[in-house]
Amino acid sequence: MKGRLAIPTIALAATLAVPAIAQADTRISIMADACNGCHGTDAASPGSMPGFSNKKADAIKKALMEYKAGTKEATIMNRIVKAYSDADLAAMANYFAAKNAK
Ligand code: HEC
Repeated sequence: MKGRLAIPTIALAATLAVPAIAQADTRISIMADACNGCHGTDAASPGSMPGFSNKKADAIKKALMEYKAGTKEATIMNRIVKAYSDADLAAMANYFAAKNAK
């Protein structure tokens, strides 16, 4: 009986102890999973999709915002970016740029 209670208690304590920043990172990486299928996990697209592994955060952000505004030519990105807030797009640009820097 003691053992049955201990496991959920430890799991709960571990969940509460995760800093907010780590949760934010997890949220961004889950969102970025939607991009990885086309662009690769490091934005260095393995297929014919354009890669952006050579771009800095500002350039990625600029491209995403232009797709959203409809000022950058696109077949699909214009529709994909509409699903995200500007803050989420900026966070994903930072996320990929941080990977690119490695
Ligand atoms: C269905 C495949 C697909 C998915 C999913 C996808 N992209 Fe794209 N991406 C493209 C294509 C194709 C282009 C070229 C522009 C166009 O035709 O829409 C592109 C272009 C881009 C560019 C500009 C690259 C450059 O150098 O001009 C960026 C940045 C980008 N995508 C980021 C993302 C991010 C971030 C996500 C996830 C939110 C994402 N993409 C999801 C297919 C995809």
